[in-house]
Amino acid sequence: MRGSSDIFANSISSDQPLSIFGRSNHEVTLPAKTLSNSRPVETNKFYGNMLLGDQTLPVWTHPYSVWFSKDLNYEGLAVHHVPNSDRVYGPDANSNPVQYFFGPVGVKSFVFGSTDFNSNVTMGLENIRHLSADCKIYSQNQGYIISPLVQGEGFVTTVYFNLIPKFTSVVGFAKVTGDTSPRAGINKYKVTLNNNRTWTLYVTLPTGQSLNLSLQDGNTIVGDRSVNGAVFQVVSSTDAVFDKAAGMYPTRGTLSGSVDGTTGSYSVTYSTAGSSNNGTTAMFALPHHVSSFTSSMAQYKTNITLDTITKGTATCYLTNKFSFELTVPSNIGLDPYSSVPGTWLNYSNNVKNAIYNAAVEEVKGDVLNESNLDSMYGAGKILAKYAWLLYVTHYVLQNNSLTTQLLPKLKSAIERFSKNTQKFPLAYDQTWKGLISTADSAADYGNSYYNDHHFHYGYHVIAAAITAKVDRELGGSWLNTVKDWVNDLARDFATPSDDDTYFPAFRSFDWYNGHSWAKGIFASGDGKDQESSSEDYNAYYGLKIWGSVTGDSSLEQRSLIQLGILNKSCNSYFLMADDNKVQPSNFIKNKVTGILFENKIDHTTYFGNNLEYIQMIHAIPITSISSFIRTPTFTREEWDQKLKAIVDSVNDGWKGIIMLNVALFDPNKAYEFFSSSSFSNNYLDNGQSKTWSLTYSGAFASY
Ligand SMILES: *[C@@H]1O[C@H](CO)[C@@H](O)[C@H](O)[C@H]1NC(C)=O
Ligand SMILES: *[C@@H]1O[C@H](CO)[C@@H](O)[C@H](O)[C@H]1NC(C)=O
Ligand SMILES: *[C@@H]1O[C@H](CO)[C@@H](O)[C@H](O)[C@H]1NC(C)=O
Ligand SMILES: *[C@@H]1O[C@H](CO)[C@@H](O)[C@H](O)[C@H]1NC(C)=O
Ligand SMILES: *[C@@H]1O[C@H](CO)[C@@H](O)[C@H](O)[C@H]1NC(C)=O
Ligand SMILES: *[C@@H]1O[C@H](CO)[C@@H](O)[C@H](O)[C@H]1NC(C)=O
Ligand SMILES: *[C@@H]1O[C@H](CO)[C@@H](O)[C@H](O)[C@H]1NC(C)=O
Ligand SMILES: *[C@@H]1O[C@H](CO)[C@@H](O)[C@H](O)[C@H]1NC(C)=O
Ligand SMILES: *[C@@H]1O[C@H](CO)[C@@H](O)[C@H](O)[C@H]1NC(C)=O
Repeated sequence: MRGSSDIFANSISSDQPLSIFGRSNHEVTLPAKTLSNSRPVETNKFYGNMLLGDQTLPVWTHPYSVWFSKDLNYEGLAVHHVPNSDRVYGPDANSNPVQYFFGPVGVKSFVFGSTDFNSNVTMGLENIRHLSADCKIYSQNQGYIISPLVQGEGFVTTVYFNLIPKFTSVVGFAKVTGDTSPRAGINKYKVTLNNNRTWTLYVTLPTGQSLNLSLQDGNTIVGDRSVNGAVFQVVSSTDAVFDKAAGMYPTRGTLSGSVDGTTGSYSVTYSTAGSSNNGTTAMFALPHHVSSFTSSMAQYKTNITLDTITKGTATCYLTNKFSFELTVPSNIGLDPYSSVPGTWLNYSNNVKNAIYNAAVEEVKGDVLNESNLDSMYGAGKILAKYAWLLYVTHYVLQNNSLTTQLLPKLKSAIERFSKNTQKFPLAYDQTWKGLISTADSAADYGNSYYNDHHFHYGYHVIAAAITAKVDRELGGSWLNTVKDWVNDLARDFATPSDDDTYFPAFRSFDWYNGHSWAKGIFASGDGKDQESSSEDYNAYYGLKIWGSVTGDSSLEQRSLIQLGILNKSCNSYFLMADDNKVQPSNFIKNKVTGILFENKIDHTTYFGNNLEYIQMIHAIPITSISSFIRTPTFTREEWDQKLKAIVDSVNDGWKGIIMLNVALFDPNKAYEFFSSSSFSNNYLDNGQSKTWSLTYSGAFASY
């Protein structure tokens, strides 16, 4: 495939969402002072806590966290950094692996405040974009401060307007000393806290203004006059390298990229304000960034690192642009794919017979009834299961009689959803702008509060994509029946561009963290989170297939790049091989994170503590993309260390997931399980067919 350079500009569509979606307003309203300019407001982004509840919970830019503090005498924008030595491990800190770890929250190391701030301070976000937002804090009088929040920002930067600066610290200031100015117009201070950690404060004053800062008491630094347009920047470091970047700060990030063959290239260009000696600001890169940077990034690298809580060690670069190159799965379509060395796709007659025997039974399924559920998630899983069955009858068995038995049932089951006549139809929420379930916030995993949309809609997208592809090859034009509906689902979680005024750009995927966040508009003390890394990559795999079926090459390329990134991020953060160097060594033996928050990792799930749930929610569903991410090395280690010991006592659908996952390192063993005469359909997850399980394992088995 040849790349075009504007894949992030080409919207899937910019039309109004279909009129079948009733228009509604959300019960969670945008907080006062949120300046959206009637544009869609992101629901699953890092700054979400600033839009929810009392707006005072922290947000993580990595490596820093910041929050709106209304605490008496500490009003303003609070900043904290948690070094690894401050992490809290539990419940038994001495066990290995520990179940969880987190960073202490609410420690106001440094607060950007003002003598004019009191309990009447208010806060609102402006210029809300998927990689940035401006946090504006207003005094009850005319003054205000603005902090442009950009993930990875090297400095936490705050610009003051008509206010006397006052900086506070609950940790306490032990010492504040002036240091050599790095540049005309910039003053530099070293600020040592009572925990003996020294921060650096840079002050850039507009021409003609001056400011004296002095220590008023152990918790307070005050300025001697009001400033207007002065820029204050802090770093949790005293390294002189920041002198080169001080004065400049990022305000926004813009994506570009393309795919050529199996190489994906993309970059984030940071718009900046201010000026610095080096002509750039400083940006922190996470481990999965560093491992996919182009070689030209090396010249911008510094030797400065700061710990993050859940994303390993961040490395500081003096640059306004991150450029990446990585391998993307252009060569993976629907056919089973395996990265197990020495395997190749080939079905023996024995295997085909076994697949056929299973398919003959399973095409009889009552698709319409089985998918008639009150959950977009549950129904999506059923539809995707039958779509994969259709893939097998059409492409693997090439049995027209089986295909034409299943196809009409699957179409009409999908059409219940594409006509929006399911039990809880979707509505177009005009408040945040998105497609939400009309079930309440406790139902369907919080879909109506924007939880899990990429999981839920991802299943529907792939089901429709496979069905439309097979239908077209049989001469049909059913694609036209569902195209606008699927595109609306795709836009809801993955519209790429601000040209689409009906949905926020990339609701789910976080292009800095390199994966999606499942948490929607619920305030959360540990930030956004996600547990199912596998339903995450399957959602973008579904979009990749949908893009190829509809001829939307930009969508296909974006999805490929996301999948390339997900291979890096999943294997750095969520799926921990024994040689993982990113997560704490006393956590790695859990093999999977469980729930990964911005501030905490907890080896558990939202639906129970059974080990098979915790491990396999990171595997489900096992499809042709799984082996691109879940490597033979990792899956074998996880089996040896975690799953082998429990598989005999698991006798429900999780057993089928565990055993199909075995195909990711030992296809023969998996195939033996599914083809055994003692196999029971009770071992199938409701989203899994025996036909597909035999197909995926049998494709690479020597039977
Ligand atoms: C906050 O605003 C209210 C209403 O304007 C006012 O009565 C009160 O005195 C203010 N509080 C402070 C601390 O200024
Ligand atoms: C900070 O350093 C001083 C002097 O070295 C020492 O006495 C004190 O215990 C240290 N405090 C902390 C919190 O580490
Ligand atoms: C800043 O404070 C110092 C020491 O108090 C004083 O000598 C100096 O004149 C002050 N500068 C300004 C511009 O006020
Ligand atoms: C900025 O710093 C980087 C890293 O030290 C260096 O490679 C680059 O040449 C610098 N740019 C300028 C304009 O000084
Ligand atoms: C980084 O390198 C500079 C010299 O380029 C050195 O002065 C400084 O101490 C180093 N900092 C760290 C944290 O290693
Ligand atoms: C595929 O399997 C068939 C039947 O087992 C065998 O005859 C054939 O050689 C295999 N082809 C390849 C490329 O391995
Ligand atoms: C539909 O499914 C329900 C269970 O979900 C079952 O009770 C019912 O008998 C089924 N109806 C038909 C017509 O198969
Ligand atoms: C296709 O499946 C049908 C129904 O089970 C069967 O009768 C027929 O023989 C199969 N055709 C082929 C070519 O396998
Ligand atoms: C995916 O990640 C794994 C683990 O880091 C790596 O071994 C593999 O080469 C990656 N795949 C591709 C295609 O880059």
